[in-house]
Amino acid sequence: MAAFLITAVSFASAVTATWHTNLNYASPSRRHISLGIDVPTVAKRGLETRAWDPTQLNFTHGVASGDPYPTSVILWTRISPEGENDASNVTVEGNVPLYNHDTETYIKASPNPICVEYQVGSDRNFSRVVDKGTAYTTSDIDYTVKVEAKNLQPFTQYYYQFTVCGSSNKSPLGRTKTSPDAEDDVSKLGLAVYSCSNYPNGYFNAYGNAARKDKIDYVIHLGDYIYETGKGTLGKDPRATNPSDEIFTLYDYRTRIAQYRTDLDLLLSHRQYPWIPVWDDHEVSNNGYRDGSSNLNNTEDSFLKDGGVSVDQRKMNAVRAYFEWMPIRQVDMDDNLRIWRSFQLGKLLDLIMLDTRNYDRSITTLGWNNEYVAELKDDAGRSLMGSHQENWFYGQLSKSASRGATWRLVGNQIIFSRINNTARSSNWLNADQWDGYTANRNRTLHHLYSNSISNTVFLAGDSHANWVSDLVWLDQMPYDQSTGAGSVGVEFAGTAVSSTGFGGTIGSANKKSAGLVQDNRELQWSEGYYRGYYELHITPSEITANYYGCPTVSFRNPLEISLANFTVKAGDNHLQRSVANGTVETGALQRGSVKQTNVTLNTETGMWNVTAFDQVFIQY
Ligand SMILES: *[C@@H]1O[C@H](CO)[C@@H](O)[C@H](O)[C@H]1NC(C)=O
Ligand SMILES: *[C@@H]1O[C@H](CO)[C@@H](O)[C@H](O)[C@H]1NC(C)=O
Ligand SMILES: *[C@@H]1O[C@H](CO)[C@@H](O)[C@H](O)[C@H]1NC(C)=O
Ligand SMILES: *[C@@H]1O[C@H](CO)[C@@H](O)[C@H](O)[C@H]1NC(C)=O
Ligand SMILES: *[C@@H]1O[C@H](CO)[C@@H](O)[C@H](O)[C@H]1NC(C)=O
Ligand SMILES: *[C@@H]1O[C@H](CO)[C@@H](O)[C@H](O)[C@H]1NC(C)=O
Ligand SMILES: *[C@@H]1O[C@H](CO)[C@@H](O)[C@H](O)[C@H]1NC(C)=O
Ligand SMILES: *[C@@H]1O[C@H](CO)[C@@H](O)[C@H](O)[C@H]1NC(C)=O
Ligand SMILES: *[C@@H]1O[C@H](CO)[C@@H](O)[C@H](O)[C@H]1NC(C)=O
Ligand SMILES: *[C@@H]1O[C@H](CO)[C@@H](O)[C@H](O)[C@H]1NC(C)=O
Repeated sequence: MAAFLITAVSFASAVTATWHTNLNYASPSRRHISLGIDVPTVAKRGLETRAWDPTQLNFTHGVASGDPYPTSVILWTRISPEGENDASNVTVEGNVPLYNHDTETYIKASPNPICVEYQVGSDRNFSRVVDKGTAYTTSDIDYTVKVEAKNLQPFTQYYYQFTVCGSSNKSPLGRTKTSPDAEDDVSKLGLAVYSCSNYPNGYFNAYGNAARKDKIDYVIHLGDYIYETGKGTLGKDPRATNPSDEIFTLYDYRTRIAQYRTDLDLLLSHRQYPWIPVWDDHEVSNNGYRDGSSNLNNTEDSFLKDGGVSVDQRKMNAVRAYFEWMPIRQVDMDDNLRIWRSFQLGKLLDLIMLDTRNYDRSITTLGWNNEYVAELKDDAGRSLMGSHQENWFYGQLSKSASRGATWRLVGNQIIFSRINNTARSSNWLNADQWDGYTANRNRTLHHLYSNSISNTVFLAGDSHANWVSDLVWLDQMPYDQSTGAGSVGVEFAGTAVSSTGFGGTIGSANKKSAGLVQDNRELQWSEGYYRGYYELHITPSEITANYYGCPTVSFRNPLEISLANFTVKAGDNHLQRSVANGTVETGALQRGSVKQTNVTLNTETGMWNVTAFDQVFIQY
């Protein structure tokens, strides 16, 4: 305790600079006090207070890094006082803003700032420290710490750690990696691609599996990192949600994310890799669009029914908690909803991360209006992104092609390809996907075809199933499904970490997949039984996609099954034939066979030996 007292002197010296080291004090907008944090007020309040006893403080939610640039990367941790390990509940309760304009005070803010130091080294012992700094945090930002490590070398691995100032209380050791310089000739790069981790639905084994193999450089997350609905009873069901009901307030969103950050495999992935995530609907609310979601209309009725949180306020709460907790940059601090951004990863590839969900999306299917949206699906005015982002997107594709990057990866939430769902559903159309925004899809395809932009790879999550397709403009451009000729790229869509897929047995799921590939000739592989993820191994001459399935997510285990592998050769703009070399483990292949080789460990046989798995886990 004596070792660390914040004195007036130490504060006065570098108040503003030091507080701003923690990027979350400017989030989600530095221009507007009601949106961001009024740092001088926080700093002034801090002057009057004493620090925490370092032994009262805990790095309960681990460390994380993300949004790598060639010479910098974002580092994250949370350092919370005793009793507030789950989430800060001293700042806000219910739907009150953090800053009260009438009284010019913060509501129930804990007055005590916490000080942490961070260091970045080229080895795990920090024998050479390449960057370091000091940051403060308070309950205003849920005790989160987000700093930018600088002065780094491109495409280089680093270790980092946070320490409570003046103490030996240290965070777990993190590992991270910068991006290649835009001009670097990168010979190979690996990504693991995830979506849809639903905590009450199952354990996040998929996150841990890629970390345990350790064959990749970065993690891409396409959204549905958390879910907003409530399930189960805390204290009774091991994966019951906290809060127990659907979330609306800032406190709710913070608490929910904090709970997700207790899953050991998620913690491991964050600790080991820089992440590049975007949100989908469930980070805010199911089937969101610019002005509501399936469970919240922009009307007084809906507002009153849901405890008096408006559509905009709820989105604000969710977005604020997301930026506090995710190790990412805000590329435009004056546009607090903006998450769309891009990364140049050497000459090898450009990664364009889109927000087809919350930024400026035209109305989507909300349950009660599905027929209406089906009628609107071809309207020219409909956009998934809004014109600002949509034009930026096309510009990014062109810029990437003209700078000569080999590949263009589009990190997008929803399925891009046209899918006839008849084999799965009574309604062929899922208008919550790009299928409900066909003019926007045509504009994208037109941009790719008319500018001869090659080597574009769409990534997608959201659907809880695996879909691998040639990227085609049916009824407009010729397409030969046996050779792939006429296609303008490929789409790799991945299953969920734990959200429910087709359900049923492997047999019934594969039957649906067989119907889907039959009804959709550009769809080369469909699979809906397994939870999992995929890895992309990228070189200047080809991309290999390796799809993995988790035999079960009903308990923590490190098992996985290789489901299918695909190759795309640079310049081909379609999946290499024979697709998947003609054989996959499960699902249905357009022209090829399914050979199940690993029957003992499939979920139906249930031949598990839980205790034997413990030893396989990496120790923390
Ligand atoms: C810190 O976290 C550990 C592990 O979760 C827990 O055992 C310990 O009680 C916590 N300490 C404090 C001071 O909250
Ligand atoms: C919230 O505060 C109460 C009382 O101050 C405390 O008992 C509880 O553990 C806190 N809950 C969380 C989730 O931090
Ligand atoms: C780091 O320290 C450990 C022991 O603490 C030692 O075994 C290891 O060789 C050291 N590594 C480096 C890179 O200095
Ligand atoms: C939203 O409005 C529609 C149409 O009035 C209604 O059917 C639906 O129940 C409303 N949803 C909510 C959550 O209030
Ligand atoms: C979808 O496929 C079914 C065959 O399963 C076919 O009857 C139907 O016409 C197709 N619908 C569309 C919109 O392509
Ligand atoms: C999209 O392109 C297809 C193929 O040319 C065309 O049939 C369809 O009418 C277009 N839809 C819209 C909304 O432009
Ligand atoms: C089957 O999958 C399990 C789980 O990943 C793995 O341990 C085992 O080696 C696999 N067996 C075969 C024959 O591939
Ligand atoms: C995928 O490729 C790996 C080798 O990279 C191989 O071990 C695995 O069996 C393949 N999976 C399938 C389903 O063919
Ligand atoms: C297909 O088989 C060839 C030859 O065995 C191998 O080099 C290649 O990696 C395989 N491709 C995939 C996608 O499994
Ligand atoms: C499960 O593993 C444990 C520990 O290795 C062993 O003692 C036990 O016999 C195994 N049970 C079965 C059913 O294989």
